[in-house]
Amino acid sequence: MLQMVDLKTQYGHIKSEIDREMKEVLDSCIFIGGPKVNAFREGLEQYLGVKHVIPCANGTDALQIAMMALGLKPGDEVIVPAFTYVATAEVIALLGLTPVMTDVDPDTMNITAAHIEAAITSRTKAIVPVHLFGQSADMAPIMALAKKHNLFVIEDNAQAIGADYTYPSAEDGTKKTGTIGHFGCTSFFPSKNLGCYGDGGAMMTNDDALAAKARMIANHGQSKMYYHDEIGVNSRLDAMQAVILNAKLKHLDQYNAARNRGADYYDRIFGQIPQLKIPARQPNSTHVFHQYTLQITTANAVETRDALKAFLLEKGIPCMIYYPVPLYEQPAFAPFWKGGKLPVTEALCASVFSLPMHSEMTDEILAEITGAVKTFFEQR
Ligand SMILES: Cc1ncc(COP(=O)(O)O)c(C=O)c1O
Repeated sequence: MLQMVDLKTQYGHIKSEIDREMKEVLDSCIFIGGPKVNAFREGLEQYLGVKHVIPCANGTDALQIAMMALGLKPGDEVIVPAFTYVATAEVIALLGLTPVMTDVDPDTMNITAAHIEAAITSRTKAIVPVHLFGQSADMAPIMALAKKHNLFVIEDNAQAIGADYTYPSAEDGTKKTGTIGHFGCTSFFPSKNLGCYGDGGAMMTNDDALAAKARMIANHGQSKMYYHDEIGVNSRLDAMQAVILNAKLKHLDQYNAARNRGADYYDRIFGQIPQLKIPARQPNSTHVFHQYTLQITTANAVETRDALKAFLLEKGIPCMIYYPVPLYEQPAFAPFWKGGKLPVTEALCASVFSLPMHSEMTDEILAEITGAVKTFFEQR
């Protein structure tokens, strides 16, 4: 059976460094904070070209702490895409804020400034653009809109670490996703492009005051040991995870390039199958292909997708549906939905499917997967 993500082969390539560094952590008995976490924080700041990285326990916490640090208050509205992973909106509800869910672009599957603008009210305080599947949302118009309406921008960069967004003006140049808004948040969940061997996450910001506040909130709201200025949380990245992340950070560009090679191969084959729509590539963003997500273009997409999934599974090829249900149709989010349907989100939930994508894709694996998908559509 193939896997969606092959962490085992990847580990094999970096095993000696990771094992050696892990042993150092064990020998030092410094498990929380300390030099390994600091080394990773500094390495990631340098890689991203951002002033502050604040490591924390996971990507969901990162979003929550960022919203707390921005001082968002119950009743404030936060605009999010309806087509995303639940964590994006979950923390908004958890903090007593109101998630306002919008539709997304049918090609990039990302939220756009136009969607956001239509959802702004007098209560809107923040926007969470998600760089879904590894490609940046179009940030220049989103930042301009945020400035005009005095809104905070928290980028959900859990799926796009390493991606570059290029502004339309040469003056603004190119920035790493996650370093554009007031905060960027990311996840180091094992299957992420930069993943650890447990849970981990981080916030990014160029604002000194916001960084200090987020750091404090992530550490029980304490400014110094046992002095608590505000209610915080306990959200830490541990030294063992930092060691793994530091080892992988050196290879992140190479991992993302390998994902791109896989995506190019997929595109060449799937671009010729009329029942499939290949992932759109935006000229203003690189794509790091956290997921390679196709859309089925036939009228009976759900039925075709179910049949394809079963066909592939029989051949030992996994495929996943990210995401099968719009956020507003999840019972947990019913209180935040006025009713109605968002057409693009509905269509995507009914038609998307993601194939294996990771840093260890070989031509043999790609040939096996593309061959099976091709056979399926030839037989229909
Ligand atoms: C878009 C998005 N946001 C947030 C998260 C949450 O990250 P974590 O699982 O580390 O809490 C994830 C990860 O699954 C994600 O894909």
